[in-house]
Amino acid sequence: MQTLISPSLLAADFTNLQADIDMVNNSEADWFHLDIMDGVFVPNISYGIPVVEQINKIAKKPLDVHLMIIDPDRYVEAFKKAGSDILTVHYEACTHLHRTIQNIKQHGMKAGVSLNPHTPISVLEDVIKDIDLVLLMSVNPGFGGQSFIKNTYCKVQKLKALIQDKQADTLIEIDGGVNLQTGKKLIDAGANALVAGSFVFGSNNPAQTISELKKL
Ligand code: DX5
Ligand code: ZN
Repeated sequence: MQTLISPSLLAADFTNLQADIDMVNNSEADWFHLDIMDGVFVPNISYGIPVVEQINKIAKKPLDVHLMIIDPDRYVEAFKKAGSDILTVHYEACTHLHRTIQNIKQHGMKAGVSLNPHTPISVLEDVIKDIDLVLLMSVNPGFGGQSFIKNTYCKVQKLKALIQDKQADTLIEIDGGVNLQTGKKLIDAGANALVAGSFVFGSNNPAQTISELKKL
């Protein structure tokens, strides 16, 4: 399977978002990664539902929405209406994770679960078959442009082993500090999808950078 690439618009130019969305539309990227931060679960606030709605009007690829918010059940329906295709919640933010996953799927979206760097893979043992995607954080969530945490390679291998052991078909996506070097090692370890923010939008030719990531 070819690597899926999900550019994170957190690093895009918000004074001219249309240009960056068009670039992604015309690139080899697979998804748009949208980072929603509430200032409580993470120490930063990004953008919310009205912005996702506007992005959805011109985005021609699926919206891969990463909720860094507490008690995300409250907003599952709103994010569906805003155009989300994949809705990822944090394990650490859900008291009843199984219920939240079912809620997302009942709304017709793919269900993702994200793990912070300190959270072990083992917490997913009893839900892995219910999850479409696991988003492993390779930085502490809240900001773009941080350094990659190397322990993630080992977590990818553990997650892949769990998926195989449970005969699940869950995708492994990685978020934070992804570039050509870390990306290559992540793919070798078993990752299926890569999020990249500052590496893509901070490069001289973002579409070409996406293409290079895609070839990994
Ligand atoms: C961090 C976000 C990431 C962020 C990644 O909390 O979840 O999606 O945009 O940014 P880079 O690729 O710059 O590390
Ligand atoms: Zn993210």
